[in-house]
Amino acid sequence: MTFSVKNIISIADLADKDILTILDRADKMERLARGGKQSRLLEGRILATLFYEPSTRTRLSFESAMLRLGGSTVSVAQVGASSVVKGESLADTIRTVESYSDIIVLRHPQEGAAQWAAEVASIPIINAGDGAGRHPTQTLLDLATIRKSQGKLEGLNVAVLGDLRFGRTVHSLSYAITRFTDKLYCVAPEGLELPPEIVMDLEGQNKEIVQTGDLQGILPDLDVLYVTRIQKERFPSPADYERVRGQYVIDLPLLEHAKPTLDILHPLPRVDEIAPAVDKTPYARYFSQVFNGLVVRMAVLDLLMEAHKT
Ligand code: NCD
Repeated sequence: MTFSVKNIISIADLADKDILTILDRADKMERLARGGKQSRLLEGRILATLFYEPSTRTRLSFESAMLRLGGSTVSVAQVGASSVVKGESLADTIRTVESYSDIIVLRHPQEGAAQWAAEVASIPIINAGDGAGRHPTQTLLDLATIRKSQGKLEGLNVAVLGDLRFGRTVHSLSYAITRFTDKLYCVAPEGLELPPEIVMDLEGQNKEIVQTGDLQGILPDLDVLYVTRIQKERFPSPADYERVRGQYVIDLPLLEHAKPTLDILHPLPRVDEIAPAVDKTPYARYFSQVFNGLVVRMAVLDLLMEAHKT
């Protein structure tokens, strides 16, 4: 196994074999993730989490992953409590934080921020979301969840649903899942379709992008339905958001048309796009995703630290 990745800014930073290496390593982390035994794999290493946007799962799972592997964490969870409010630039902040840590996980409202940080930093940078751009480690945990449940990634009928324009999780997932499949169904309210540059990229790789409003029509064919919330915070006005919210809701009557083996994923947080009654069905995978986020991030930290020994 050779894993020589330094930064994870987008899925493009990972070859197929890197993705599979991460998923395999994640499988091996399960026992440690449940707290069965204290690991010393990353003893002496420090993870910095630098979050300029809200987060529950991503930040806590990265920090928990580091602690489970015997490492330590420092964190700016609210930039309002840091020198950013004094006008410090991202570059200066990164140069500072890298003096205190071995790896930085960054979430920032601006697209491209993580790439910019990686150009400034000498230590590995992980993009935990850059505005409406990318969120690659979410995608890795999505793939881990799909592979565990379906037993494979190849040849599955996958649909992404919801805010495909501003949703960074679906941007990363679209690139990643089509490494293993030839087709992707896209269902979005009008104006929130997958960005044309992503559609062009994927079509350029001979992938079939099926954009449809007919969720009920495609549902019986689906193996995976990936649901996302409308990204309210990226809309110019509350009225623009109100116009598109609530158009697609996954509920029990709709699921009568689903394959028994359908997996419904959601990166969370959920607002109103999946009815709570769906949680009790065998389709619901979104709480498994939460746990898989921990094991996948343990694998990512372990592999990046192994590849980038200082
Ligand atoms: C996602 C994000 O931040 O992009 N959340 C997450 O990391 N699980 C999805 C979202 O906010 O809708």
